[in-house]
Amino acid sequence: MDKLIEFSKNVQFTLGDSVLEIIYLIASVLFIAGLKMLSHPESAKRGNTLAAIGMIIAIIGTLVLHEQNGKKIENLGFIFGAIALGLIVGWVIARKVKMTKMPELVSFFNGMGGAVATIIAILEFPNINKELLEVHGMLNFEALVIFLSLVIGSVSFTGSLVAFGKLDGIVKDIRSVALRYVNIILLLSVLGFVAYLMTRGNVNPSDLMPMVYILLGVSLIYGVLFVMPIGGADMPVVISLLNSFTGITAAMGGFLYDNLVMLTGGILVGSAGTILTILMCKAMNRSLFSVIVGAFGGGGEVIESEHGSIREISETDLAILLSYSRKVVVIPGYGLAVAQAQFLAHELDELLNKKGVEVKYAIHPVAGRMPGHMNVLLAEADVSYDKLVESDKANDDMDNVDVVVVVGANDVVNPAAEEDPSSPIYGMPIVRALKAKNVIVLKRGMGKGYAAIENNLFYHEKTRMLFGNAKDTLQRVIKEVENI
Ligand code: TAP
Repeated sequence: MDKLIEFSKNVQFTLGDSVLEIIYLIASVLFIAGLKMLSHPESAKRGNTLAAIGMIIAIIGTLVLHEQNGKKIENLGFIFGAIALGLIVGWVIARKVKMTKMPELVSFFNGMGGAVATIIAILEFPNINKELLEVHGMLNFEALVIFLSLVIGSVSFTGSLVAFGKLDGIVKDIRSVALRYVNIILLLSVLGFVAYLMTRGNVNPSDLMPMVYILLGVSLIYGVLFVMPIGGADMPVVISLLNSFTGITAAMGGFLYDNLVMLTGGILVGSAGTILTILMCKAMNRSLFSVIVGAFGGGGEVIESEHGSIREISETDLAILLSYSRKVVVIPGYGLAVAQAQFLAHELDELLNKKGVEVKYAIHPVAGRMPGHMNVLLAEADVSYDKLVESDKANDDMDNVDVVVVVGANDVVNPAAEEDPSSPIYGMPIVRALKAKNVIVLKRGMGKGYAAIENNLFYHEKTRMLFGNAKDTLQRVIKEVENI
């Protein structure tokens, strides 16, 4: 009888385990399908929901079915309490945040992911498998995963918070040759600490805790100083790099807990972040190394232009110019998002289409403050996808364009990127607005862009400025076009 009870317990255990594996498989499929759908604005919302469903069933499945050494998960009250708290805080923040503050929010959430990985590493360090310790000492795979998780997680945590501050404008770039050396020393110290800890032999992990806390401190400082010197226009690269870091640490958590869904989720985020980082580097014409060591643009001093004269244009004149053109290209930038002028841009575009004017949008890969920012905004306003042209292609045809309308863009049309080797954005590809016959710039004043540098495009003889909030100026231009 006893044997029968024992057997039935085993069967139950295996059954629960297999069901959990199947749930993890379904969750992983939902993650992958969701990620695929995120690549197109039309399906992105559904993709997000799908991946969220995957996450919910993985969490519930784990809480209900996970067993280790015959023990179920305890403290369910605390766990559900923490989930509920996170849910409420996340929900309120996500609902309240303005669209233009979304990149800051993404950076902040990413930082939280890094913090979680760090906490897991610290909590799990004293529990390193005793058998592994006896056979290999500290030089074992589990210890390596914990140390990497601690280092990458904490760099991602403080790095993301600094990135948040930079996007918000409260943290300024600090660049100096000395800082570059400090960073190299800190990085070498972190690696040295890890090597030291891993060669301690078969010791009680708790005895090494003081050293682990020092490693934590150095990594946290490195995270801050690593992002500090990275120049304004290079922020997209560092943000996607930090994103991939957090994914990698989640995958390490998967290794640590032998949890397939955590591993899959982490690998997906880590690899998506890495691919994005490579694409961003290409878009900025940078090597990852040059961004990381902040070696670009000769230290990146802010340069002042020899301010030429500024020519303005009235709404009426712009309406006439646009209505009698053949080809118009709109170059949207961060100011379009700030003004929420995407709907009006589309309205103007349709009005002009009716008059036989061809309108396209030239999309720079880092226009705005997050990857695909302009695509998302324009999709929201129902601008047809085939009107969006990548900046390279737009440049090829720019000679044939009658009017370029720059709406709230600055850095992505700054000729200094091609003409001034001392500029911090030198080497970054731009939309070559000046190749068009006329350049019209819609912005509120002479405010600088994200890279905080002067833009000679605004002083060029081909350029005319229409000052004001893009939403107001576009509204007035639409009225004028309607009357023509
Ligand atoms: P920016 O260079 O940031 O320029 C935006 C311009 O919009 C400003 O000069 C501002 O001038 C104008 N503006 C702001 N509010 C406006 C409003 N309500 N109406 C009209 N104009 C308004 O934008 P960009 O050309 O899109 O370049 C993006 C920059 O952000 C790049 O340096 C990029 O590297 C960086 N960045 C990008 C990302 C990603 S992934 N896209 C992430 C982080 C950083 P006024 O104040 O005079 O109006």
